[in-house]
Amino acid sequence: MHWTIEHIERVFLGYMEANGHAVIEGHSVRSPTDDVLFTTAGMHPLTPYLHGDEEHAAGKRLSDVQRCVRTTDIDEVGDDTHLTVFEMLGNWSIGDYFKETSIPQSFGLLTGEFGIDPHSLYVTVFAGDGDVPADDEAPRIWEATFHKAGVDPAGRINPLGADDNWWSNGPVGLCGPDTEIFVYVGDGPAPAFADRPEFVEIWNNVFMTYFRSDDGELRELAQRNVDTGMGLERLAMFLNEHTSVWETDELALLLERVGAALEVDTVGLDGEGTRSLRIVTDHLRAALVIAAAGIYPSASQQGYVLRKLIRRAVRYAELLRGHDRDLAAVTTDASERVAEVMGKRWPDVGPTESGQRAREVVEKEASKFARTLAKGVQHLAKDAESGETFTGELAFTLADTHGYPAELSAEEAARIGMPIAPDWESRYDELREQQRARSRG
Ligand code: SER
Repeated sequence: MHWTIEHIERVFLGYMEANGHAVIEGHSVRSPTDDVLFTTAGMHPLTPYLHGDEEHAAGKRLSDVQRCVRTTDIDEVGDDTHLTVFEMLGNWSIGDYFKETSIPQSFGLLTGEFGIDPHSLYVTVFAGDGDVPADDEAPRIWEATFHKAGVDPAGRINPLGADDNWWSNGPVGLCGPDTEIFVYVGDGPAPAFADRPEFVEIWNNVFMTYFRSDDGELRELAQRNVDTGMGLERLAMFLNEHTSVWETDELALLLERVGAALEVDTVGLDGEGTRSLRIVTDHLRAALVIAAAGIYPSASQQGYVLRKLIRRAVRYAELLRGHDRDLAAVTTDASERVAEVMGKRWPDVGPTESGQRAREVVEKEASKFARTLAKGVQHLAKDAESGETFTGELAFTLADTHGYPAELSAEEAARIGMPIAPDWESRYDELREQQRARSRG
């Protein structure tokens, strides 16, 4: 059976609705609080309700699809699973049901609606740490749930420590023990459960019952909450038996469209080329979402993330294309194609006012940066011709006067075969530090 993104969303929300959850709208990717820049998890906009400070107008059982932005893993983007913007399917009990409902409910959705063989399910539970004792309820409920489905629970329920089974949204704030659900996707009988790629984590049920304050102290909340999150793209990958999120319908179509805009042969790409194309696509998709949320490129905070994403998109477009075409034009063309595909499901990046503005923001920043790159590249080519070495001084001049970032100029220098001074980086850092000191002056 083929699972489209829309179908998965419908099945998830329909099931949660049938189980008494109100379906609510996801929040903007712009964080509702000041402690982080973006909405990074489905629970994030629900913080006041999970805290017990406010009552949600839609009730105590909620469900939604939340677009999230995570930039901590930006260097991993381009692999099979990491995306800067991803969607999280979530359901919440705000001081309503607890583990005894949440666990069989999740199991029922996976094995019933999504048709996953219960024999392929494995879970982890919280083994306890110095602060909080082991969760002995979740394993009991899991055991009963497996038994009821006629599955021997032996080896399926695995207690792990706080690194794996304690969830928090940063060092301070709401937190609690969780149980994570994995599917075994390997061939033949499953080996003992372990941290290996054949066990794919698909769902996290957090029993959000604690709050950690600034001074590190942990206190129990007055209400017991459940917060679950399941990555939509990864679920789509798994249900359609793909090995990469980039093989799922929408993302595969994006790669094809971006590849066409860049005029690269997407089928013939090697590993590095594939990675570059995924980065351009991911970053343009994320940049459009962030810009559509009303953010503009700038030197700090959300604006800086947006700028960095657009610049990286241009840079990786350059790696794929070289300089034989107008980089700004191809990046803009690529971003329009991304907006066209994504706009079908995400109206804010489609043919709406916010979508229009987002495309303009991307175009403007991409054009500016493409000019910078072109100048920097020409500069380096001349230097190389006259036999110069790539030094910290040169990297500094290029960055300072032309805005050509040092990590990019160093890469380009290596690519065109310039000799590179082994201490260029430390020298570059020194010069930057001196400049900072001068401007502090
Ligand atoms: N907050 C948890 C997570 O992000 C579950 O939704 O994984």
